[in-house]
Amino acid sequence: MRIARLLPPETAHRLALHALSLFGPGGPPNDAPRLQATLWGRTLSNPLGLAAGLDKDGVALAGFARLGFGAIEIGSVTPRPQPGNARPRLFRLAEDRAVINRMGFNSAGHDAVLRRLDRYRAQVGREGPLIGVNLGKNRESEDAAADYAAGILRFSDRADYLVVNISSPNTPGLRGLQAAQPLRGLLAGLSEARGRAPARPPLLLKVAPDLDAEERAAIAEIGIEAAIDGLIVGNTTVSRPPGLRGRHRTETGGLSGRPLFDLSTAVLADFARLTRGRLVLIGAGGVSSGADAYAKVRAGASLVQLYTALIYEGPGLVRRVKAELAELLKRDGFGSVGEAVGSGLTALSTTEAAAY
Ligand SMILES: Cc1cc2nc3c(=O)[nH]c(=O)nc-3n(C[C@H](O)[C@H](O)[C@H](O)COP(=O)(O)O)c2cc1C
Repeated sequence: MRIARLLPPETAHRLALHALSLFGPGGPPNDAPRLQATLWGRTLSNPLGLAAGLDKDGVALAGFARLGFGAIEIGSVTPRPQPGNARPRLFRLAEDRAVINRMGFNSAGHDAVLRRLDRYRAQVGREGPLIGVNLGKNRESEDAAADYAAGILRFSDRADYLVVNISSPNTPGLRGLQAAQPLRGLLAGLSEARGRAPARPPLLLKVAPDLDAEERAAIAEIGIEAAIDGLIVGNTTVSRPPGLRGRHRTETGGLSGRPLFDLSTAVLADFARLTRGRLVLIGAGGVSSGADAYAKVRAGASLVQLYTALIYEGPGLVRRVKAELAELLKRDGFGSVGEAVGSGLTALSTTEAAAY
């Protein structure tokens, strides 16, 4: 890890992915029974997931499964391959345990990712971690709904869940799809695509932590109405919380890592109140310890994802977060993760979330 941090961030990222891609599938992780989580009727060995964006092209599925994740989300995948934005586009803010990225959906495209997923499934079958596919749109595409519908049709019989990512700050116009009217139109189109797809895995929306209270309420209502299955809260933030020290803090892009934790957890809690158990919530943003993961669970998350902390802590982080989380569940008398989901909500005031 120390050597990796001396390299430019994208080089380190490529090297780490390559190393992980060399692993074959291992056995099931030896998780404490109380870490078991149930999501849409599937039992997961633990509630810790890899967030989208690290393995965008699904090159290291077996490697990430070996690290002990209960779920792995690949993507965002765009229909056609595209290179993403010009480099440099990934910046470390080491003092803040954060990164800023403006990758812009660099993707190998549907066909290549589908082939890799098939190869992994041929080896592992449906055992092991849940595999989610996060869908994006091509930058040049004029019809976002068509791109997402194409993703649903391509991946629905391969993925354990699908994510429609409408919250990346690095594709012009994308976040506008979170507004009530475009979102209604989009979800109507996607519902039609789901009807034509060969299978019907859970469909989630991934939203930004930068939504205001009114936007959050509208998304919750529209999502429930459209019968989606869950929300991922959330993506990177375009805000720059006070106190950032890293010299790259003014770079354009989405900020992730520790400074995102409070904001994303408050927004998650608000979505938990708004959706009242009718949508499964996945919490992401700044998780780097079992205590962080536990806070997300108590704020309503059934699954907790992380990415940026892996850059700083390395692969041993997965094991550590799980051990700490199991300890905290035990301390508070929870026999399973499910029992703890949302248990902290009454302790969090609505004004707290509204303040963001
Ligand atoms: C370099 C980088 C690339 C990312 N790419 C994607 C992406 O393609 N699709 C997506 O939905 N989220 C993407 N994300 C966001 C993460 O999935 C996650 O929501 C966010 O980083 C917050 O979690 P973290 O603080 O644990 O990193 C990316 C994040 C980073 C740092």
